[in-house]
Amino acid sequence: MKVMVIGSGGREFSIGRVLKNDPEVSALYFAPGNGATSMLGENVAIKEYDALAQFALDNGIDLTIVGPEGPLSDGVVDIFKAKGLVIFGPSKAAAQLEGSKVYMKNFLAKYNIPTARYIQTDHIGDAFKFIESLTVPIVVKADGLCAGKGVIIAMSYEEAKVAVSEMLSGKSFGDAGKRVVVEEFLDGYELSMFALCDGKDFILLPAAQDHKRLLDNDEGPNTGGMGAYAPTPLVDEVIYEKVKERIVRPTLEGMQEEGAPFEGVLFIGLMIVNGEPITLEFNVRFGDPECEILMPLLKTPASELFYKAATKQLDTLKVEFHDQYAVGVVMASHNYPYDNSVPAEIIVDTVHHEEIAQHTHIAYAGVSEEEGKLYATGGRVLVCVGVGESIKQARDRAYMLCGQVHFAGKKLRTDIAYQALRQ
Ligand code: AMP
Ligand code: GLY
Repeated sequence: MKVMVIGSGGREFSIGRVLKNDPEVSALYFAPGNGATSMLGENVAIKEYDALAQFALDNGIDLTIVGPEGPLSDGVVDIFKAKGLVIFGPSKAAAQLEGSKVYMKNFLAKYNIPTARYIQTDHIGDAFKFIESLTVPIVVKADGLCAGKGVIIAMSYEEAKVAVSEMLSGKSFGDAGKRVVVEEFLDGYELSMFALCDGKDFILLPAAQDHKRLLDNDEGPNTGGMGAYAPTPLVDEVIYEKVKERIVRPTLEGMQEEGAPFEGVLFIGLMIVNGEPITLEFNVRFGDPECEILMPLLKTPASELFYKAATKQLDTLKVEFHDQYAVGVVMASHNYPYDNSVPAEIIVDTVHHEEIAQHTHIAYAGVSEEEGKLYATGGRVLVCVGVGESIKQARDRAYMLCGQVHFAGKKLRTDIAYQALRQ
């Protein structure tokens, strides 16, 4: 099977890594990929989706997997399908579940799926009235895609009103903020769950926990995620079943009813409040760095899983996971998440301890390659992943690998998986 992965981050590297080790996969392409995916397969520098679909046809690519939300919201899946290609990801219509918070909240309300009480509006008076009906903190969200930055947790009524005014006037997020969602604050613990969907059937993957803040103890600014682990002991069978029956199943049925069946990865951002899973948000793709720690836990060949999901055959598949844990620690550049950083060479010392070498690896993200050397190019540079029989073992291994990786200005959190380990 020839497979192409669209995207250029650590998420796409980690999908490529399991495909590379899959005996069914005969060729692997990344569009556009990064400086390290070229070690797994061939990078394809075609930006335009029509031309990329033509490349897939010309090269006999059997399956394309889309990583990031951008191409999905742009309709890459529709373009590929129109040419008869097999592609895993939601259509442009279904991708609205992530592309528009207003669409998502209205969908959740219509199909009675648990979520925070909210109002969506472009009218400042209505927003202010709703704000006054809530208790602080109050959550204000811009409607469109804002690279995870469009959410303000306001600690006072005044702050909430300023956030709404700045969004509606276009001052803070341009057009993406010209409609807002104001909602009640949910007080609980946050989880990431992922359902692989084929429009009607789904497979719910082990629950993960991300670490969104830049610094230890969940301090500092929000980021795309500084580390993750799975499976988390914060989810038991009961919560898992509730997520399936109350959230994923009604979402798939609802999307069918809306005429936009959901195929692809449904990323459910959850808050568990008193044992009840409440939907914070949907994304229509894998989380990053969650994907990097879920892929190594997959026992079923990745090519089979993604191909069956892309061809409506999930009901014929029994997915298996290794009975292990994975922890991923992100290493970011000096100026992340504020600014770019000067490129810096990455040196990885050889891991001599065989057991650690066998159970760790690096998923590369913000890197370029020049004459056989890798350079950190800014943002989240790479993820050190450790796998083990316990979360502690997996975490210790991930951090041992971190100690072997060097580049100027590297920064990382030292407390990934703390919520599981303090139990
Ligand atoms: P979102 O982009 O909707 O995922 O929001 C980003 C982050 O804001 C989430 O990961 C949560 O940590 C936080 N958040 C969003 N909505 C709420 C809410 N209603 N209550 C508490 N925290 C929230
Ligand atoms: N790690 C969270 C995200 O990918 O949005």
